Amino acid sequence: MNKYIVNGGRPLYGEVTVSGAKNAAVAIIPAALMVDGVCRIENIPQISDVTLFFSILDELGAKVRILNRHAVELDCRAIRSTRPSYELARRIRASYYLLGALLGRFGEATVAMPGGCDFGVRPIDQHIKGFTAMGAQVSVEGGYINARAKNGHLKGANVYLDVVSVGATMNIMMAAALAEGTTIIENAAREPHIVDLANFLNSMGADVKGAGTDSIKIRGVKRLNGGSYAIIPDQIEAGTLMIAAAATHGDVLIRGALPTHMEALTAKLLEMGARVDEGVGEDSIRVRSDGNHRHVNIKTLPYPGFPTDLQQPMSVLLSTARGTSIINETIYEMRYKHLEEIRHMGGISQINDRIAIIEGVPHLTGCAVTASDLRAGAALVIAGLMAEGVTDIYNVQYIDRGYEHLEDKLRSLGAKIERLTVD
Ligand code: EPU
Repeated sequence: MNKYIVNGGRPLYGEVTVSGAKNAAVAIIPAALMVDGVCRIENIPQISDVTLFFSILDELGAKVRILNRHAVELDCRAIRSTRPSYELARRIRASYYLLGALLGRFGEATVAMPGGCDFGVRPIDQHIKGFTAMGAQVSVEGGYINARAKNGHLKGANVYLDVVSVGATMNIMMAAALAEGTTIIENAAREPHIVDLANFLNSMGADVKGAGTDSIKIRGVKRLNGGSYAIIPDQIEAGTLMIAAAATHGDVLIRGALPTHMEALTAKLLEMGARVDEGVGEDSIRVRSDGNHRHVNIKTLPYPGFPTDLQQPMSVLLSTARGTSIINETIYEMRYKHLEEIRHMGGISQINDRIAIIEGVPHLTGCAVTASDLRAGAALVIAGLMAEGVTDIYNVQYIDRGYEHLEDKLRSLGAKIERLTVD
């Protein structure tokens, strides 16, 4: 097991580059299973969820050729199995995309119920609703989801999502790409990674229109060919670095941060009193702060609302803002476990169901804390950077699931952060 040791109180200064988007990569890599040719994918983040997906594809019979740290060639022409191993699939949430991809191409899939970060009940009924509308029979037995298309092939259908779901939107989009006829997804999620998956599929020969709006139309094609594709920069990593810059009273230029993806966070940082400027001539954002932050209220919502994945880092920044901030977490029922740890560092908060009330304190003090999930881990790192003294952060493996070498990036900005192996 690894832990971070953070020596806090140092402003972050300099420039840093955002890696490829985790939540796009963990959809696009399984989507490659649908491609009857070789696809080259670039700007892949070096994170453990991606490594795990490569193992799953390899085991199913794909040829996985790592070209360099951020590029891979996937050849899925000779897939042997539509049943990924339970042990691998169970370890990540995004393994649900194996259902849409395998069902779409082979008309059948058997995949372990997805795992992933634990912040309450995370149903996949909307994914199943979509597959069923397209003519699949879906059952859950012995920890596996079995999906079979009647007559071996899915048929296009109209699917209205009862909740705006990122995973269901992308999964149905994949399954529909090779279905017979046209599928329309209504009340679709609009996150940047949904547009990225649509662009990937289209670059392989699919016909997806409307991604980025709440109505997506997918005209099924007979075959997806190989090609080349580069993943977009990670909106949540960019946001985490923006928050870290403000939290340490620093001045950081974040390269690869796409300003249009960051509008909800930018608005809140400005409201708090930080300075946020778009870089000139390329996609980048500069965040500066003198640390004189006002309280703000946050309500997490599907894109373009404030992302739930930045709620945890943001709540840490608010823990030293002047006044009382109120957070309403509308996406997940239990995404405040990190605030327990922040209390050990001197933070004051009250949690009532999905509402967190945060009373700003003058400063946090370092101590030993434990990450309960990926973004909780990132939030605790920010807390460690802000705090007086030394913070030990346990369960760094969660952070490795979604942030590429976070400690190296922070160190390059002047942070004192070390990784240590502990028993
Ligand atoms: N929901 C349902 N039924 C479904 C699907 C979702 O009720 O069939 C509910 C969920 O319980 C939740 C809401 O709808 O209340 C939204 O869930 P969504 O399906 O959008 O989330 P997800 O696909 O499971 C992805 C990301 C999460 C991110 C959310 C929201 C991946 C692998 N995961 O999860 O990322 O929080 O979208 O943006 O893409 C993270 O990166 O830390 C992370 C947790």
